[in-house]
Amino acid sequence: MISSRSSSTMSAMSMVLFVLLTLAASACAQMAPVRSRPVRARDAFSDQDPLNKEGEDHGKPTVPSGASLVSLPITSDASVATYWTANPNNATATNAYIMMHGKLRDGANYWSVLDTVLEQAVKAKHAGAVSTSIVTAPQFYSTRLNSGQYTNSQIAFADTNVWQAGEAANRPIGTNVTSFDALDALLAEFSDTAKYPNMKQITFVGHGGGAQLISRYAVVGAGLPSGSKIQLRYVVGDPSSNPYFTLDRPLQDTSVADKATCPLYNRWRYGFDRFNGTRAAPLMTPQQYFARFVTRDVRWVVGYQDTTNDGDDTCMAKLQGGEARRDRNLAWWRYLNTLAGTNQDLTGFPGALPGMTSWANVTNSTLAHRLTVVYDADHNAQEVYTSIEGTSALFDDSSNVQLGWRPQGWRNVTTATQTKSPAAGSAGANSSPAATIGSYRAVAACMVLAAFVSIAVSLL
Ligand SMILES: *[C@@H]1O[C@H](CO)[C@@H](O)[C@H](O)[C@H]1NC(C)=O
Ligand SMILES: *[C@@H]1O[C@H](CO)[C@@H](O)[C@H](O)[C@H]1NC(C)=O
Ligand SMILES: *[C@@H]1O[C@H](CO)[C@@H](O)[C@H](O)[C@H]1NC(C)=O
Ligand SMILES: *[C@@H]1O[C@H](CO)[C@@H](O)[C@H](O)[C@H]1NC(C)=O
Ligand SMILES: *[C@@H]1O[C@H](CO)[C@@H](O)[C@H](O)[C@H]1NC(C)=O
Ligand SMILES: *[C@@H]1O[C@H](CO)[C@@H](O)[C@H](O)[C@H]1NC(C)=O
Repeated sequence: MISSRSSSTMSAMSMVLFVLLTLAASACAQMAPVRSRPVRARDAFSDQDPLNKEGEDHGKPTVPSGASLVSLPITSDASVATYWTANPNNATATNAYIMMHGKLRDGANYWSVLDTVLEQAVKAKHAGAVSTSIVTAPQFYSTRLNSGQYTNSQIAFADTNVWQAGEAANRPIGTNVTSFDALDALLAEFSDTAKYPNMKQITFVGHGGGAQLISRYAVVGAGLPSGSKIQLRYVVGDPSSNPYFTLDRPLQDTSVADKATCPLYNRWRYGFDRFNGTRAAPLMTPQQYFARFVTRDVRWVVGYQDTTNDGDDTCMAKLQGGEARRDRNLAWWRYLNTLAGTNQDLTGFPGALPGMTSWANVTNSTLAHRLTVVYDADHNAQEVYTSIEGTSALFDDSSNVQLGWRPQGWRNVTTATQTKSPAAGSAGANSSPAATIGSYRAVAACMVLAAFVSIAVSLL
């Protein structure tokens, strides 16, 4: 006969077992190989997650203390909502930051991340970080998820993902204004020398989904008029994909992704097919964009631990260097240098570009960009930009940017710029950078949970 006491113990045990099994199932499910979704014509541009299970908070956000939420005109009938340093002193401002939110479209949080990094750098008297700065963070609303939060003139997108590729908004009704046009409006604002007579430096910053936009904006954005004395900088952290100028792709393992079965691999956002240009500047050829791009001050910031395959999992993205964003971005550095025809040592960078033709004839073999690898950072804007290397990429002059980790065999690693990197060399050309610390962590978590489950089962 079962006493009531032992029966309640049994039900408590089954409860515990149920919870453990659920946890184990979800941990193990995250490790399961991610299959590429079937690719439809619109997929290169459209929502990857129609149900929005990504953790977006759709409530009306709180304006961070020290900021206000303003509306900046793009055209006579469209404007962009932007978090902005409250009561800015425009006349004395020397620096402006445009911090792009990530996939979750949380501009308020991103404003705070950059404002805090800046405040700390100013306090530490970091070169290039000054209190006469204005921090802004544009907010791209979703018509589906943010209704009631934006005004009739503010831009909003029917698809929560297309702003990352610079595509057009759907509100105000009838608009064809894009996220690139919104960034160009911010650039025009801060480069207006009548309003900002002391402006010296304008910096666009992005991470993740925001870095996808800034990576592409660094290529196609208006830039400053020739003769401008202002300096313009783009800081791009851990995007899932970048805009390739040619049909070459660094991934050669057709078991991961194959051009032959990936017809959209060069469609715009991944390549230039069907790119339409921007409002500020007519469409140019990929080679013309590249010739201008190599002269721009672009800093690529890569979290060395950004290895989970939870970003863009289409074949178009995988062809850019595999499953992990880190590998795609290190392979992108190989690609940019190879296309520009620089003499950078690319030993140990992942990817291969057999037979690729360089465009040194339009670059003079130069590339004014920097690559900074933050060894300890995961896919996390705060980790990346509060690190010594990330802070350096944000504020230092090009020649002083800390480069962080470099692969084993790379010839120009100075002790001053190298982070501690016990696994240096693991991204070597002959090893597989895809075997990642992130997935080891997931495997460990799964095994621990499985052990708990079997203990619970044996107790029953
Ligand atoms: C400074 O510029 C901002 C943004 O355009 C504007 O809202 C504000 O009124 C300006 N401040 C002054 C004192 O003109
Ligand atoms: C280019 O314009 C066409 C026609 O308006 C549009 O269908 C297409 O989506 C645009 N391409 C991009 C990448 O925005
Ligand atoms: C956008 O609309 C404006 C005015 O409605 C038009 O002049 C312009 O050509 C359009 N641009 C694009 C890229 O369709
Ligand atoms: C530069 O070289 C590339 C590759 O050889 C060639 O396709 C292109 O036409 C050249 N461009 C110019 C401006 O000479
Ligand atoms: C390459 O050199 C030519 C001739 O000096 C110059 O006109 C051009 O602007 C240079 N291009 C780059 C990207 O440096
Ligand atoms: C290493 O790189 C730095 C910065 O790019 C450069 O100033 C230095 O001359 C390089 N050293 C060697 C040995 O190539």
